[in-house]
Amino acid sequence: MKWTRASLGAAAAVASVAAHDLLQRRHAILRNFPVIGHGRYLIERIGPELRQYVVAGNDEERPFTRDQRRWVYASAKLENNNFGFGTDNDIERTPGYVIIKHRTFGPAAPRTASHTGEQAWMPCAKVLGAPRGRRHAFRPDSVVNISGMSFGALSANAITALNRGAALAGCLQNTGEGSISPYHRSGGDLVYQIGSGYFGCRDERGRFDLARLKDTVASAPVRALEVKLSQGAKPGLGGVLPGAKVSAEIAATRGVPRGVDCVSPSRHAAFADVDGMLDFVEMLADETGLPVGIKAAVGELGFWHELVSRMASTGRGVDHVTIDGGEGGTGAAPLVFADSVSLPFRLGFGRVYKIFVEAGLHERVVFVGSGKLGLPENAVVAFALGADLVNVGREAMLSVGCVQAQKCHTDHCPTGVATQNPWLARGLDPTSKAVRCANYIRTLRRDLLKLAEATGVPHPGLIGTGSVEILTGQSEATPLHEVYGYDPAWGFPSAADRAEIVRLMLQTAPEGGSTPGADTSPAVSASGAR
Ligand SMILES: Cc1cc2nc3c(=O)[nH]c(=O)nc-3n(C[C@H](O)[C@H](O)[C@H](O)COP(=O)(O)O)c2cc1C
Ligand code: SF4
Repeated sequence: MKWTRASLGAAAAVASVAAHDLLQRRHAILRNFPVIGHGRYLIERIGPELRQYVVAGNDEERPFTRDQRRWVYASAKLENNNFGFGTDNDIERTPGYVIIKHRTFGPAAPRTASHTGEQAWMPCAKVLGAPRGRRHAFRPDSVVNISGMSFGALSANAITALNRGAALAGCLQNTGEGSISPYHRSGGDLVYQIGSGYFGCRDERGRFDLARLKDTVASAPVRALEVKLSQGAKPGLGGVLPGAKVSAEIAATRGVPRGVDCVSPSRHAAFADVDGMLDFVEMLADETGLPVGIKAAVGELGFWHELVSRMASTGRGVDHVTIDGGEGGTGAAPLVFADSVSLPFRLGFGRVYKIFVEAGLHERVVFVGSGKLGLPENAVVAFALGADLVNVGREAMLSVGCVQAQKCHTDHCPTGVATQNPWLARGLDPTSKAVRCANYIRTLRRDLLKLAEATGVPHPGLIGTGSVEILTGQSEATPLHEVYGYDPAWGFPSAADRAEIVRLMLQTAPEGGSTPGADTSPAVSASGAR
């Protein structure tokens, strides 16, 4: 009798926990896996102790280490994202370790407001589309933006959370190649990506259709277009969304038949060479008035040499270039493509940037980087190498609940981020996760501002390669420009753009700044060197 009562009590307790888990909206894992989901939180809680003695270290997991993920999660929740006791990195024995060099004195006015939740307005140092006189040229409001990830690869709730997050953080969301879904229309501004499948701008036979492109662009707050040539995790491959995932909604969004495999070919059909691509880009810009850029991973350099030479000789050109590192993410890719095809971000970006500099075109293009650049130290290296903006993909996914289970290709994502399974997707509450996404982006911007100020400049776009060194062992470190074969004067916007961004930054600074904000522009001399 006693046992029966005890069992009934236990069953009632479990049922009430299950009911609570199903109804709450804070944790996707608990909504999807009531009761047993608590095990994950318990293990996460005792994880540091377990790992310290049994499993892996804080910096061993990939693609994102536990420390990196903890930083994103804590930033997204506006929790204390500091780490105590000092670094646990083996700095002197880790080849490639990045060191950012602070300055004791500098003209940038450091802000003294409290750090957590602190807002940092940090617009792009260049005006996108201005050098080519695009009708809708604009200065992106945020140097950190959300990278292209399609509706199809991500769930409707994830896209909604990211789009609302973009609106809250004042940044752009790239649509990915899967076109503009209803969930991309949740308030955030968009960069519409045109992939080789021409989703959202194709005719019945899959060919590019300008009239449909214009309709799609007119239907949403699209600020720029991006022609996707390749992606770091699977360059030269194209992609397939299996028919089972092509729901009525995805079919309508992309303009493809429902339930049939949705293929992105490995190359574009609207153009077949650089010349044709530049004609296509100019046609898109003329017809829509929008800035138009390209996104690519870096392999052989012939394409880039030809692009730059034709831009220099014909006056046609792209408004932005997004370089995606080979370490970048994907919903699904063959292992060898993810592991071994295309250069990692720093190498690839450096090679391409150099080609633009040598032709004198680098100041006329907005350079965007992606490939684990949603972490402050990686982003600083990107800015020093000449990036004007960074796009964050998987880090934004982490901020809306991804636990790096790496099952994106299976449709069994436990957190509802990368799945079309309605039960799993339901676990992700777009309202609370939008706030987390925005918190994460704001925190990253705030940290970038702090790092810029530490190096003596008021904006990350003004950090030079001389402010970063790469450790190569216990007694050697190489300045960033030497590692990537740069002139130390490279990596900056034009003198006029530098002066303007300094003016803009000082308008908003200081929030209780300790030094007057004047005289900051000499931080970068006329040649760009410091
Ligand atoms: C689930 C997923 C879907 C993606 N879909 C696209 C896409 O449609 N178009 C694209 O250009 N890149 C796509 N990417 C690549 C990202 O936009 C980004 O370039 C890459 O992940 C590197 O950034 P990260 O390291 O911040 O994730 C996708 C990445 C992920 C993880
Ligand atoms: S499957 Fe794993 S890695 Fe992919 S989105 Fe979901 S939680 Fe993140």
